[in-house]
Amino acid sequence: MTLVETPFTARIVGCGSFLPARLVTNQELAQRVDTTDDWIVERSGIHQRHMAADGEMTSDLAVAAAREALDHAGLAADEVDLIVVATTTPDQTFPATAVRVQAQLGITHGAAFDVQAVCSGFVYALATADNFLRVGQHRCALVIGAETFTRILDWEDRGTCVLFGDGAGAVVLRAEPTRPGGPGLLSSRLHADGRHHDLLYVDGGPSATGTVGHVRMQGREVFRHAVANLASVVTEILDGHGLAPSDLDWLVPHQANQRILSSTAKKLGLAPSKVVITVGQHANTSAASVPLALDTAVRDGRIQPGHLVLMEAMGGGLTWGACLARW
Ligand code: UT7
Repeated sequence: MTLVETPFTARIVGCGSFLPARLVTNQELAQRVDTTDDWIVERSGIHQRHMAADGEMTSDLAVAAAREALDHAGLAADEVDLIVVATTTPDQTFPATAVRVQAQLGITHGAAFDVQAVCSGFVYALATADNFLRVGQHRCALVIGAETFTRILDWEDRGTCVLFGDGAGAVVLRAEPTRPGGPGLLSSRLHADGRHHDLLYVDGGPSATGTVGHVRMQGREVFRHAVANLASVVTEILDGHGLAPSDLDWLVPHQANQRILSSTAKKLGLAPSKVVITVGQHANTSAASVPLALDTAVRDGRIQPGHLVLMEAMGGGLTWGACLARW
């Protein structure tokens, strides 16, 4: 794929995140599920997860993260003319959670819609907003990954219920005139292969059953695909820019499993110290995991102006993708 220079470049000018107050440790979980702290830590690297309270909705998490991102950017909400929310756990089947976010932020202009690519959702949403901003159709976007994923877990299925958590992360993207070598999103690569539907899906839905359903996963198979697909999409996007993994300052991956993060870094020959890891504290928050990890590394000062940052994710679908940014 040839990279085309466009009049505008979308730059991340602010980020934010939000985690529900309730913290659930592995030990607490082991009191209601047939599992142990040792098993969860050894197999996934997860120590704890946050869980939304009754009545606390995905849009509430998304709005809190969005407000923090706007503050960080120093922008007022009414400067935003595009809201894209990546979520698998919308407040309602319709309207889009993005529209509820728009209303709560007091914005009455521009476009707002959801993107559904499960754990790859944030990368898909970022790529989507980037394309709108590049061509000048919108000027300022809020891109949010937000999930109340614990609502769709089967608490009788110990193979999945210990792995996920709730949370939200957001970035503010602003269109700036393209400046070669300047900051902004450089490119993105998205993939899907629907033949693998049965490896990771929810056994409900408005059209299929009329119910919400629960997560079903063939963990070992998903793991195998994740390492192969993530290493391949990272190589693909770097090759497009004539870059090597060693040129990256930071890899900000989807946080599904510590062993996937380590195996992907090893496959790429990337130093583990360049990988931002939050899975231990947040567990797998699906579409929220990449922006939560990004916000962590921006706020603790690891990500600095000029750094080359690669975000990647894989999830149900299967879907996977990557976005490369110069900070
Ligand atoms: O974000 C979307 C993408 N999702 C992922 O990337 C997840 C990818 N997969 C994984 O992270 C891993 O496959 C898991 C963490 C889900 C599972 O690890 P695993 O090493 O693949 O374990 P397994 O599923 O093969 O299970 C091994 C054993 C089984 O027992 P037997 O059959 O060997 O006796 C399971 O019954 O572990 C047992 N087990 C548990 N034991 C204690 C499964 N879940 C648990 C549990 N606690 N929670």
